[in-house]
Amino acid sequence: MDAATVERLKDAMRLEAERVAPPEGFPALPVIPGGRYTDPSFLALEDGHLWRKAWLYACHIDELPETGSFQLFKRTGSPILIVRGKDSVVRAFYNTCRHRGAPLVRECKGRVDGLVCGYHGWTYGLDGRLMNLRDKRDFVDLDLSKHPLSPVRCERFGNWIFVNEDPDAEPLLTHLGPMPAMLEEIQPEQVRFVHRKSYPVKCNVKILLDAFLEVYHLKSIHTHTVDRFLDHRGTNITLWPRGHSLMVTPNRRPDWQDPGTRGMRRIETATEITRSNNPSFLFYPNLVTPVDATGNPFILFWPTGPRSMEIEIAWFAPDWGGGEIDPLWEKRLSNFERILEEDTQFAEQIQESVESGAFEGITLNYQERRIYHWHEELDRRIGEGRIPPELRVQPKLAPWIKD
Ligand code: FES
Ligand SMILES: [Fe+2]
Repeated sequence: MDAATVERLKDAMRLEAERVAPPEGFPALPVIPGGRYTDPSFLALEDGHLWRKAWLYACHIDELPETGSFQLFKRTGSPILIVRGKDSVVRAFYNTCRHRGAPLVRECKGRVDGLVCGYHGWTYGLDGRLMNLRDKRDFVDLDLSKHPLSPVRCERFGNWIFVNEDPDAEPLLTHLGPMPAMLEEIQPEQVRFVHRKSYPVKCNVKILLDAFLEVYHLKSIHTHTVDRFLDHRGTNITLWPRGHSLMVTPNRRPDWQDPGTRGMRRIETATEITRSNNPSFLFYPNLVTPVDATGNPFILFWPTGPRSMEIEIAWFAPDWGGGEIDPLWEKRLSNFERILEEDTQFAEQIQESVESGAFEGITLNYQERRIYHWHEELDRRIGEGRIPPELRVQPKLAPWIKD
């Protein structure tokens, strides 16, 4: 973040703490229809127009350390193979042989010298080119060059690798808007991979994601953890085009440091906003990252069904050079798991509620406007005309989005 942004955010947090009402002209947000969390036809629209056309985080470059290292990404339902080529370029392809659709790799990660289909032996290079096939004499006029693996868009932000099933998607770094420049301070080209783990939760993916877009709940469910050091009343929110947003929550005391990070390596270039506050970015649609000078998690929200999801936490640390990772990370990860338990505690019961006849929709306040912004963007991506009128969200926040 540049110095002007740091000063602007510090002033904004002071003003938020002092205000007695939402800013002049902020609208009453209409109820978000509950059917958006349960209606099968709406969820099908969401699947086709959001998840299968979005830039989604897949893995960190450290998880593809050598030529031929691969990861299988199946979060959208399609099997996507991400592989590091001889030229060190990371590419993605459907894990689908061009002969009759068998998989090229069957493990979720590993290393290969080339991509050989296990069914009839068609062989592809790490760049997806079809190199060879058995009994070529029996194919009439088959042009190998016309049968490469089907590519999937795969681009990097620093050491982080994203995929997108939409061949016409805008480039990742354009899509991320102002965020890559703002995040330069945590050195995305240097951050290292620490750990990743997924937790199944029995609710629609949006129910849990909503909990990570606001801090209105701190005083109730994080009484003995986050609420002790963050002052939710000073939270400042920036809404950006394409559904992205930032929420910066001040520490209660400027000199406070999380005891769980004491003694850990710190990123020198981290600004005061990152060192002494809690800035949390949303990369639309499903990546929340609260950044810190000692490292940051990507908190990822994945649908696994209409009423089931997985929350995945991938952790990154400042480059520690050679050798093993700092053992202090173990404690850091377990502290975070405790907070995660607090956040997930109501998810299953909220799902029961949204499916019950009693639930009409979600009533949001000014502090919760990132959730409304998320839904407005969803309608934009689906296309308003495709959504039944009773399930639409009325656009309200355009004047509050920063270009
Ligand atoms: S399906 Fe791959 S070689 Fe036949
Ligand atoms: Fe929380």
